[in-house]
Amino acid sequence: MFYEPRKNDHGLPHRPFKALVAPRPIGWISTISDEGIANLAPYSFFNGVSDDPPMVMFSSGGNKDSLVNAESTGEFVCNIVSYALRDAMNASSANVDANVDEFELAGLRKAECRIVKAPRVAEAPAALECRTLKIVDLPGEDGQCSHYRVVFGLVVGIHIADETLIDGLVDAKRLNQLARLGYHDYSAVDKVFSLARPGR
Ligand SMILES: Cc1cc2nc3c(=O)[nH]c(=O)nc-3n(C[C@H](O)[C@H](O)[C@H](O)COP(=O)(O)O)c2cc1C
Repeated sequence: MFYEPRKNDHGLPHRPFKALVAPRPIGWISTISDEGIANLAPYSFFNGVSDDPPMVMFSSGGNKDSLVNAESTGEFVCNIVSYALRDAMNASSANVDANVDEFELAGLRKAECRIVKAPRVAEAPAALECRTLKIVDLPGEDGQCSHYRVVFGLVVGIHIADETLIDGLVDAKRLNQLARLGYHDYSAVDKVFSLARPGR
C-alpha cells in the first residue's frame, strides 16, 4: 500500500505513521514552573541527537506545560522509564491543569537534581539533567507552521541507578527501558545482541 499523509488516504482504521517509526524511547520530562509547581509527562517524540556533548530533544504538540516550563526556566530533566514504571508513566500523561503536580498524581517520589532546580523521578533507573538550548517551531505544509515545537537540551548531569550497571556497563535488560510503538502499544527491552562494526 501507499498513501500520502497530507491526503490521509490510507484507508486504515488509524494513521500508521507512529507504528512505523517505532520503537521510540520515552523521555519522561520533569520540570518546575515559575510558580514552583513540579510537572511530569511522557514524550515519545524524544531522542538523543548528539553524544559529545550529549544533547536530547523532545517535541511538544503545542505549548504543553513541559515546554512552557523548559522555555521559561531554561531547564528540564529526562527521566528514563523502566517497564516497572509503566503505569505511573501513563498516569502522568493525564491532561491536567498546570497547577497539578503529576508526581503526586502518579504516586511517585521526587529526588533532587544536582545542577537543575526541577526534581527527578526517584524510582527511575536513570535521569538526564538538561539545560534548554533552543526551541524550534516546526514548519508544516506549504509554509504553514505545524503545531509541533521541538525543545533541544544540553545534558549537564546524568544519574544512573547503581543496580543497572554490570562491570561498568549499563545493562539494557536491567534498565528494562520502555518504548512506545504505534496505537496504544509499548515494548520493553528483553532481547539484546551485539554487532561489531566492520573494520573495528
Ligand atoms: C507514552 C506517551 C508518549 C507521549 N508522547 C508525546 C509527545 O511526544 N509529544 C506530545 O506533545 N505529547 C505526547 N504525549 C502526551 C502528553 O504526555 C500529554 O499531553 C501530557 O498531558 C502533557 O503534559 P504537560 O502539559 O504536563 O507537558 C505522550 C503520552 C504518552 C502516554
